[in-house]
Amino acid sequence: KTNQQWGGRFNEPTDAFVARFTASVEFDQRMYRQDIQGSVAHATMLTEAGVLTVAERDMIIQGLSEISTDIEEGRFEWSIELEDVHMNIEAALTAKIGITGKKLHTGRSRNDQVATDIRLYLRDEIDLILLEITRLQEGLLGLAHQEADTIMPGFTHLQTAQPVTFGHHLMAWFEMLSRDYDRFVDTRKRVNIMPLGAAALAGTTYPIQRDITCQLLGFDAPAENSLDAVSDRDFGIEFCAASSLLLMHLTRMSEELVLWTSAQFNFINLPDRFCTGSSIMPQKKNPDVPELVRGKSGRVYGHLFSLLTLMKSQPLAYNKDNQEDKEPLFDTIDTVKGCLRAYADMVPALESRKEYMREAALRGFSTATDLADYLVRKGMPFRDAHEVVGKSVAYGIETGKDLGEMSLEELQAFSDTISEDVFDVLTLEGSVAARNHVGGTAPDQVRAAVKRGQDKLGAR
Ligand code: ARG
Repeated sequence: KTNQQWGGRFNEPTDAFVARFTASVEFDQRMYRQDIQGSVAHATMLTEAGVLTVAERDMIIQGLSEISTDIEEGRFEWSIELEDVHMNIEAALTAKIGITGKKLHTGRSRNDQVATDIRLYLRDEIDLILLEITRLQEGLLGLAHQEADTIMPGFTHLQTAQPVTFGHHLMAWFEMLSRDYDRFVDTRKRVNIMPLGAAALAGTTYPIQRDITCQLLGFDAPAENSLDAVSDRDFGIEFCAASSLLLMHLTRMSEELVLWTSAQFNFINLPDRFCTGSSIMPQKKNPDVPELVRGKSGRVYGHLFSLLTLMKSQPLAYNKDNQEDKEPLFDTIDTVKGCLRAYADMVPALESRKEYMREAALRGFSTATDLADYLVRKGMPFRDAHEVVGKSVAYGIETGKDLGEMSLEELQAFSDTISEDVFDVLTLEGSVAARNHVGGTAPDQVRAAVKRGQDKLGAR
């Protein structure tokens, strides 16, 4: 017996291995809800177009709704012989309601059907991802507000550079995520275009009304060109690119959390519930969550390259290659959602160790630039001031003293323009408070940035 869906022109059944090899039902059954949603819209439109009767439409919709329940309740039997989610559901419909079920596929192909399903699926998932990014950003805003006055060393080259506030550092993460959010919003615009109606590749001879299906399914517009509609997966690639950038940002945060929770930095305590221990070393508490997120970036970057390579050089229109788009996409979705959830749960629970942060900021001559700026205000050209401060830092290294710990006499040995008021700028508080402009690290600026962040999230 040949395949019941397309076996008409075949003289022998599909080889058993080939059937398994070409089947996608094991992974594309994830899209059953979208597949049914698309079929309901299609049947409704066919009725408006006079292709199906109202009675036929109602039977189809009723049948599909029962199938949906069967699947949800684990009663549905998926069959490899029926290849994919689309043919499994269609065959089940015919088994349920008889020959009317066979009319559903009028004016449609699996090619426009699958492209529609993926877009619906991805659109729903993007909406969930957007909510999770916002939840993570809310956590960052809360923590940044709380840590607006906390001073830590800011780094370049991972060497102590200038004091910054911890709140300001957290708001840098917030900014990265804002751009990620915008990228997903933008990707969604290109995802939310409807392929349905393109049929196999050239359109259909039935009097279909694509604006009806488009509206029923909540798409922004029908795809303009049938050949393009069934074949391109650039929207999925774009989704993986946006995901890769998001994960890249999460790896940067992860790297810092891993460093900061180490005994060497000791800036942060990560509550036990986000850590794991060692089976051999009893003292260990490992920052597994940030580490794993850092590691998971690898698979998402990999999926981006899988999809780019999958799409490369494909001639128009649909090719079976495209069946391979689903696993990378689904795994990207799962990974992104998992990482976001872990971060959104973890961030509000981060505990700063202010004394250690402060002490580290005091250690690395982090106010050297402030001293140079002070000398400039007293009339010295910046390059000369740089030289003078460089020499006093060298003296500090030799004597084991930070700039703020030197006496006025010691400092005056490097420049006689230095007077008592120098100590205002050599303190950490003075240093951060002086960077008081939009985008600067001053505590007041952090609070203002948090406020703007809250407005931004409120407007979403
Ligand atoms: N399972 C296929 C996919 O994922 C559906 C479309 C197949 N169309 C075809 N003519 N083989 O792409």
